[in-house]
Amino acid sequence: MLELDLSPLESSRIGPENGLELEPELKAWQGELDRAEQALKTRARNPKAMLGWIRQPEDTETARQILRYVEGLTWVQDVVVLGIGGSALGAKALISALRPEASVHFVDNVDPAPVKALLARLDPRTTLVVAISKSGATAETLAAYLIFRRWLLDALGEDWRQHVAIVTDPEKGPLRAHARAEGLTAFDVPPDVGGRFSVFTPVGLLPLALAGVDLMQLLMGARAAAHRLDNARKSALMLFLLERYRGKRIHVLMPYGTRLALVADWFSQLHAESLGKAYDRKGARVHVGPTPLKAVGATDQHSLLQLFREGPNDKAFIFVLPRDLGEDLPMPKDPGLTAADYLFGKGLGELLLAEAEGTRRALTEARRPQYAIWLPGINEAALGELLQTLMWQTALLGELYGINAFDQPGVELAKRYTYALMGRKGFEDLMEEG
Ligand code: PA5
Repeated sequence: MLELDLSPLESSRIGPENGLELEPELKAWQGELDRAEQALKTRARNPKAMLGWIRQPEDTETARQILRYVEGLTWVQDVVVLGIGGSALGAKALISALRPEASVHFVDNVDPAPVKALLARLDPRTTLVVAISKSGATAETLAAYLIFRRWLLDALGEDWRQHVAIVTDPEKGPLRAHARAEGLTAFDVPPDVGGRFSVFTPVGLLPLALAGVDLMQLLMGARAAAHRLDNARKSALMLFLLERYRGKRIHVLMPYGTRLALVADWFSQLHAESLGKAYDRKGARVHVGPTPLKAVGATDQHSLLQLFREGPNDKAFIFVLPRDLGEDLPMPKDPGLTAADYLFGKGLGELLLAEAEGTRRALTEARRPQYAIWLPGINEAALGELLQTLMWQTALLGELYGINAFDQPGVELAKRYTYALMGRKGFEDLMEEG
């Protein structure tokens, strides 16, 4: 069970100019939070509102279908996932947390050298290529797909089809049409779930199943978020108040441990694309959105912490801390290194959590607002609950800001300029503008 420790935000601990009076604020804003939650739940009935992610953890049938497909893939040794943004970050974060040893390679950029290096390492006979794109039209994903499909075709001839799985819209887009034309295995992205909210659809579930993640436990954890919605409600309100009334415009997500590092990447995209908006729901120009910043403990204690503690007091810190890191790795005694004697007999995990505690105390001492999300451990259920809670938190923040958290109009124009620069038909006018 995920637990929230908001107590370090209390103004009695960090002063009224940086902190909040938790109970009175929660009371004062309860009506607003109820309205926000209700608005989301009501709008979820309308497929156009893009709130299908709320129900997604209940869809165990899709997970079963995926598992049946994966069971038959006994010949697969390497999986290459082609996808970008919301079509990659969730699975990437969860695989690196739960199955870091899995041979799942993500191609989420169009830098030629790493793609060439990956192709050179792989054996096409034992490689499955999974192309994930809701729109089926994203340039980076299509570009990578062209290269990997040709690689499979050249090596395997007509058998290339067994080495490809597509995840895309059930009806629309070039990848759906291609999957139909070629008779490829294809899984649906529900039309009412947007990319960054799609980790519990086949977008996340297929790569996760291929990596050996327990999908049922993951979905069970995600379902639990709905029963403990208070965690998302309270943390959304705190982040909103800190940004609006205490000038904490930067929200730092700082998980502790390498395994959780990519959760911060996923969170950054979720917050940035959902909350960074020019207009509110009524059409007024607002330019809102806290800036998410990723950090990882203990590594970034030796990089960002100096700024966090002594730089501008314009940040709120969210720590993600596992109570249990699994089997620890004890540090041996070394007679030649007496300076390290204090470490002898203790575990690396023990040190990691002591570093987290030390950092938290140091931030409180510098009157910097922070709260902690405690995970029982690094496992499927805990991470399922964490991600679904953070999606709820983001959606509630969107309501508090009065904006649509489920679109991303700001990324369109850059895509259109790229099409023009690459000579795509219909975009010639934009070329002239440059
Ligand atoms: O969250 C989003 O909607 C985006 O980040 C998309 O996931 C990203 O642009 C990729 O889109 P698509 O899945 O259509 O290829």
